[in-house]
Amino acid sequence: MTAADLFDLTDKVAVLTGGAGGIGVVYAEALVEAGASVVVADVNLDAATATAQRLAAKGHAVVGVSVDVRSAESAAGMAQAAVDAFGGIDILVNNAAIMVDLPPYGLGNIPVDEWDRVIDVNLRGPLLCTQAVLPAMDARGGGRIVNGLSAGAFMPGGIYGVSKFALHGLTVNLASELGGRGINVNAIAPGLVANESGYVALPKDSPFRDAIEASIPGKPSGPPEDLVGALLLLCSKAGDWITGQTILIDGGWITRL
Ligand SMILES: NC(=O)c1ccc[n+]([C@@H]2O[C@H](COP(=O)([O-])OP(=O)(O)OC[C@H]3O[C@@H](n4cnc5c(N)ncnc54)[C@H](O)[C@@H]3O)[C@@H](O)[C@H]2O)c1
Repeated sequence: MTAADLFDLTDKVAVLTGGAGGIGVVYAEALVEAGASVVVADVNLDAATATAQRLAAKGHAVVGVSVDVRSAESAAGMAQAAVDAFGGIDILVNNAAIMVDLPPYGLGNIPVDEWDRVIDVNLRGPLLCTQAVLPAMDARGGGRIVNGLSAGAFMPGGIYGVSKFALHGLTVNLASELGGRGINVNAIAPGLVANESGYVALPKDSPFRDAIEASIPGKPSGPPEDLVGALLLLCSKAGDWITGQTILIDGGWITRL
C-alpha cells in the first residue's frame, strides 16, 4: 500500500452536514478530491445545491440535499438520499452547527428555549444524523463518523461551549458503543478559524482576539483548509486504528494533560 492509498476514498460515500457553510464547502471539495461520492446536506438547500453543482461541474460525484439536523425524519431523508444516489454510506461528517447567532445570555439566565435552540442543532443533530446513517453503515460492515467539535468545548464559553463539550462526550460514547460494528467515531476541534463565521464569533479587530492570539504557542489561526488533513485521516484507511479521539487543531491553544 502506498502513502496515497492510505488516504484514498475511492468507492466511499460521504454524507456531510453543514456542507454549504464555510468549513463545509472546503470539506466537500476535499472529500471528492480524495475520491469519495459526497452528499452535501444543509438546511440552506440553495447553497448546498450550488456547492454540489460547482463540484459536479469538475466531474465529481456529488449531490446537494436539504436537511434539518434537528429532525429525525429529515435526517432519515438525507440518509435515504445518499443510498439512492450512491448505493450506501461509509462516512458521516457532523459539521452543521450554530456558532454565530448564539443567545446573548450567560448560563445563569439563558431562557430554556434558547438553550434548546443551540442544543437541538449542535448535539441532538449529530445524534439524529448518526442514528439515521447507522443502518447503511451496518450494511457496509462499518464506517467513519467525524464530529465537528471546537476548541471552545474545552474552556468556559456559555451554551456554545457546553454544546461542544457534550458533543465530545457523544463522540467518546458512540466510539465505545459502535467500535464492535466497525464504526470509528472521532472529532475535529478547530481553534480560531479564519472564515466568515469565525470572524463573526470573534471579530478580526477585537482586542480579545489579539490577546488570545498572543497566548497561542503555535500558529494562532488558520483557514478551513488547515482542517482537511485531519478530516482525511479520520475518514480513510490511514485512520483505521483511531477512534474516540478529539483532535485539536488550534496551534496549541488548548492543552489537555
Ligand atoms: N468557524 C470557526 O471559527 C469554527 C471554530 C471551531 C469550530 N467550528 C465548527 O465547525 C463547524 C462548521 O463551522 P463553519 O465555520 O463552517 O460555520 P458556518 O456557520 O459557515 O456553517 C454552518 C452550516 O451549518 C448549517 N446549519 C445550521 N443549522 C442547521 C440545521 N439545523 N440543519 C442543517 N444544517 C444547518 C448552516 O446553514 C451552515 O451552512 C461547526 O460545527 C462549528 O461549530 C467553527
